[in-house]
Amino acid sequence: MKHKTLTQYLVEQQREHKSVSADVRLLIETVSRACKAISTTVHKGALGGVLGSLGTENVQGEIQKKLDVLSNEILLEANEWGGSLAAMASEEMETIHPIPNEYPKGQNLLLFDPLDGSSNIDVNVSIGTIFSILQVPADAAGRDVTEADFLQPGTRQVAAGYAVYGPQTMLVLTVGAGVMGFTLDSEMGSWLLTHENIRIPEQTAEFAINMSNMRHWEAPVKRYIDECLQGESGPLGKNYNMRWIASMVADVHRILNRGGIFMYPRDSRPSGHKGKLRLMYEANPMSFLVEQAGGRAIDGTKRILDIQPQAVHERTGVILGSRAEVERVQAYHQAVTPA
Ligand code: AHG
Ligand code: MN
Ligand code: MN
Repeated sequence: MKHKTLTQYLVEQQREHKSVSADVRLLIETVSRACKAISTTVHKGALGGVLGSLGTENVQGEIQKKLDVLSNEILLEANEWGGSLAAMASEEMETIHPIPNEYPKGQNLLLFDPLDGSSNIDVNVSIGTIFSILQVPADAAGRDVTEADFLQPGTRQVAAGYAVYGPQTMLVLTVGAGVMGFTLDSEMGSWLLTHENIRIPEQTAEFAINMSNMRHWEAPVKRYIDECLQGESGPLGKNYNMRWIASMVADVHRILNRGGIFMYPRDSRPSGHKGKLRLMYEANPMSFLVEQAGGRAIDGTKRILDIQPQAVHERTGVILGSRAEVERVQAYHQAVTPA
């Protein structure tokens, strides 16, 4: 069977459906090339000397793994000179990274989590890269962009996606016209469209949450998981299965393909009040993909894509996946905190 390449798909979207502009198309191609380079680096593992920690901390106070930093560098280098960006922001950089003056500047902003699921690197479990593309606001024309220019709700994303480095390397992408999955043919070096128009099943019976945090959860989350655990004889009337990979990319990839609900809720820990995951380069791109695939994504009570960010590294609660399950959890939150 002959598969369409990522380039063919993007050119079609640009020419026939007008769902992507020429410079965003080029930008997505560049990001996808960087993901190929990250994939090669990841797959070398111990042979490439890329496992283990650097001993440094990022702005979030997390110990940086070698691959966090290497992946960040690969993305920065690949995207600096292409001409479609004004600036970038990353989980691994405290401040935004404006395009250096030696290169032409473009009208887009790129945000990324260069390596998601860092705790899985050294144990050879799936990890990934997440990215989100925004446009430079009109009022920033003719001046240098600032962090404030990045602070746009997720509804403004023009494209988003992730690469997952698992048994296969895949790129899952939306330009606002459904969700497409491309598998990397590493011999040819091309991304081939293998998963066309991914749709999340509406009703499912699988949940993903780090159960070790149960004692810190808010009441609506406790209630929902409690009901799941009661199985067929409980109020939900079905037996649930559980999965937790501890790489959001891999957990969301499973949900896009076979449904279920993923939760990293806010909790009562001092570090958990706002949630763990970052709004702009984890929650927003994943929420865009999930909604484009027919699912839902909320922070508890509200739609994630509607949140007005206050800072690039802001955190949020995340509950996303199959529509019926997410709406149930939202109703449980609204019962205690009316919207
Ligand atoms: P990152 O590696 O980019 O810091 O993100 C890790 C995130 C996310 O991928 C995952 O769902 C979650 O942290 C896992 O957290 P726990 O270790 O608390 O389960
Ligand atoms: Mn992450
Ligand atoms: Mn990361």
